[in-house]
Amino acid sequence: MHLEIINQRLNKMGAMVNDLRPVKAPDKWHAGIDLGTADIVVTVTDENGEPLAVFMEWAEVVRDGVVLDYIGAIDIVRRLLQKAEQKLGIHIEKAITSFPPGTEPRISRNVVENAGLQVEALIDEPSSVARLLGIDHGAVVDIGGGTTGLSIVENGKIVYTADEPTGGRHVTLTIAGNRRIPFDEAEAMKRNGSARSLFPVVEPVFQKMADIIQHHLQGHPVKEIYLSGGTFCFPGIVDVLQNELPDLQWILPTEPLYLTPLAIASYRNDKD
Ligand SMILES: Nc1ncnc2c1ncn2[C@@H]1O[C@H](COP(=O)(O)OP(=O)(O)OP(=O)(O)O)[C@@H](O)[C@H]1O
Ligand SMILES: [Mg+2]
Repeated sequence: MHLEIINQRLNKMGAMVNDLRPVKAPDKWHAGIDLGTADIVVTVTDENGEPLAVFMEWAEVVRDGVVLDYIGAIDIVRRLLQKAEQKLGIHIEKAITSFPPGTEPRISRNVVENAGLQVEALIDEPSSVARLLGIDHGAVVDIGGGTTGLSIVENGKIVYTADEPTGGRHVTLTIAGNRRIPFDEAEAMKRNGSARSLFPVVEPVFQKMADIIQHHLQGHPVKEIYLSGGTFCFPGIVDVLQNELPDLQWILPTEPLYLTPLAIASYRNDKD
């Protein structure tokens, strides 16, 4: 799908996140659940993937592909689903969900099933983005809170996926160390307007991320790299990638925080 349409959908998601105001749902819709390490997002889209509802909670219930707080994760999923149901006047019985490449998909399945839903489809996160974008030749790099996920596509086929334990959490830890402040304070500082002044502090973390990406791309003749995940909200991060790996074309969507949740909710496994 064209990036312009996706950007419109992402902007819509950014505007509607956690908005409870009622909207009439169409007859057919799909729900997606992104169980991330920094946040959990429930997205409902119509049949064509147009977003109808987005509910999100910041929560550290997952780390390194392991659910640290299983009950907490289920509670959050239930709460977010209830809000989506209330907004749209629907009853959600099944959902599409995801897992980081190379981790056990059963973890997400268990959380979703214990929240009382059937799993409609399961896909790894960066590959869901690759599918949504309809990439023929290129890669997706998804840097969320805890991990860097990669999916490489050649001739329309996913040929390689990987997940590395480096993400926005490491950016926050670096800020906390440098400024001698607690993690939560550093996280808040990062997400509000202070990000630019923190750039020199975190630039080495972004350079390390470029190294990780380069390492995984080795042997794959791809040029276009699509970026997803909340870490790409940090102003200037893409310039670092561009400087470190100038031969690649880096493509940043308008709201990288919502691209993976949108891709999960838009994924239909009947295309396989
Ligand atoms: N405005 C912002 N500026 C900088 N970083 C941000 C901003 N908004 C969110 N982030 C960071 O994005 C990360 C969360 O992104 P995302 O929701 O994609 O992660 P996740 O899916 O929960 O994690 P993962 O994919 O690693 O499991 C957090 O580290 C958060 O600090
Ligand atoms: Mg994620």
